[in-house]
Amino acid sequence: RGKRAFIAGVADDNGYGWAIAKALAAAGAEILVGTWVPALNIFETSLRRGKFDESRKLPDGSLMDVVKVYPLDAVYDSPEDVPEDVKSNKRYAGSSNWTVKEVAETVKNDFGSIDILVHSLANGPEVTKPLLETSRRGYLAAISASSYSYVSLLQHFLPIMNPGGASISLTYIASERAIPGYGGGMSSAKAALESDTRVLAFEAGRKGKIRVNTISAGPLGSRAAKAIGFIEKMIEYSYVNAPLQKELLADEVGNTAAFLVSPLASAITGSTVYVDNGLNTMGLAV
Ligand code: NAI
Repeated sequence: RGKRAFIAGVADDNGYGWAIAKALAAAGAEILVGTWVPALNIFETSLRRGKFDESRKLPDGSLMDVVKVYPLDAVYDSPEDVPEDVKSNKRYAGSSNWTVKEVAETVKNDFGSIDILVHSLANGPEVTKPLLETSRRGYLAAISASSYSYVSLLQHFLPIMNPGGASISLTYIASERAIPGYGGGMSSAKAALESDTRVLAFEAGRKGKIRVNTISAGPLGSRAAKAIGFIEKMIEYSYVNAPLQKELLADEVGNTAAFLVSPLASAITGSTVYVDNGLNTMGLAV
């Protein structure tokens, strides 16, 4: 049978999550996605009305089939963690079972098991603020949504992952080099994510024969990136300074993800893999 993938962090057809879904679908995987609750309605409606049909096209001409869309808010592990104001929020009240634990249970009830877990989500409410001006609350929110969300997802999905399976997340070089503008504790969150990749690779490898890697991706004009505010500048900077002077396509990250979760990468785990036209290797802007 083909492999089954759960991809957390897809809410339109512009981001890395969508491109990863497509690359996995093209390789024959069954696609389940987790969509942030506030974005669920518009994503499902757009999907149903054919708004994404052009970008659902796979290399063989068929359309990617998103088998099921699960509402998800990865900052909450179980219903007890959800504050009253969120519970009663109109956008949340319309959906159910969207905490990490409940989503894993629902996927288990629906399909029994998965082979591939993808984390393609991040959020930092103070991302536009320098770290020196970031509040404790903003910093912890960035870590919660962008780093612990991955620990929680793997924690809850590992029991339903088939041995030999694999998991990946998306990170950014601001974890290891200062990137002015990537603030609010988001750089800290990515540093945590990369460190956790190594520790989780050890633990999930021993516990479930699951590989864990992260892709350090170059800049892409996704919805999330546009919210940061300087993405066009970063894309231009990369174009000017990277060894490969070409636009970075989301599909190039998608293809690397497909490789990393496939048997072709059966000895790769705990790694941060750069998909950035080589920009990370440069020491001097030219
Ligand atoms: P995106 O906007 O396509 O994806 C981010 C997703 O996270 C959105 O679908 C959003 O709804 C979801 N999300 C936010 N908070 C959530 C929560 N609490 N629970 C569940 N979902 C939540 O944007 P993009 O850029 O493709 O982001 C995907 C990953 O790629 C992120 O980890 C990001 O940091 C990473 N990345 C992006 C780069 C870029 O230049 N766009 C560069 C390097 C890494």
